[in-house]
Amino acid sequence: MRVGIVGSGRLGAPLGRLLSAAGHDVLFSDARLTLAEEAAVAAGGQAGGGSPIEAARFGEVVVMAVWWEAFPTVVEELGPVLAGKIVIDPSNPITERDGAEAVVAVPGGLTSPQYQQHVLGPGVRLVRTFNTKYPNELLELGMAGQRGGPRADMPYWGDDDAAKKAVVPLIEDAGFTAIDGGGLADAL
Ligand SMILES: NC(=O)c1ccc[n+]([C@@H]2O[C@H](COP(=O)([O-])OP(=O)(O)OC[C@H]3O[C@@H](n4cnc5c(N)ncnc54)[C@H](OP(=O)(O)O)[C@@H]3O)[C@@H](O)[C@H]2O)c1
Repeated sequence: MRVGIVGSGRLGAPLGRLLSAAGHDVLFSDARLTLAEEAAVAAGGQAGGGSPIEAARFGEVVVMAVWWEAFPTVVEELGPVLAGKIVIDPSNPITERDGAEAVVAVPGGLTSPQYQQHVLGPGVRLVRTFNTKYPNELLELGMAGQRGGPRADMPYWGDDDAAKKAVVPLIEDAGFTAIDGGGLADAL
């Protein structure tokens, strides 16, 4: 599957690496092109680096691995490119204030991915997953699973059943056991 990664930082880089190792075509992108290119080199294989718009166009599935609060800016930058696409949302509602991490109160009593779905618009097929592990843990557990070792659980949530079904093989190929957590209203 073609996977575009938007945000090649602590989470996007190892996640793309796991998917590339499993044979998926991964295009990394970032606000800083050098970071995307470094992630592509670390991933090896067929992975490449490009701009966020290129990654969004390229991906049958697009991973939004940017800070929670960067979502509206990224969505505006990508414009209509995400319409109809499956978007993976690993973002947790956490921000940085005065140098320390702080939890963001999600507006409207929504869960975090319900709010991100609101930001993305109804035409985007959001699946929330890969948000429950620290990046090192994600890489180590995923690689262990890919090598045939014990597999860690990876929950996923979404309101679009076909999109959820399409994301399950990516979770499994990344080395995890996919666990259906329900709809976006149920999401962690
Ligand atoms: N790190 C964790 O432990 C962890 C665990 C689970 C889930 N997550 C979630 O994963 C997401 C990413 O976290 P992270 O730790 O990987 O953050 P990160 O290391 O800061 O990576 C995010 C990357 O996105 C880039 N970016 C910002 N705005 C962008 C834009 N408009 N277009 C393209 N790229 C842009 C950033 O560039 P600049 O630095 O130049 O702004 C940065 O390189 C967050 O939502 C977080 O909640 C993180």
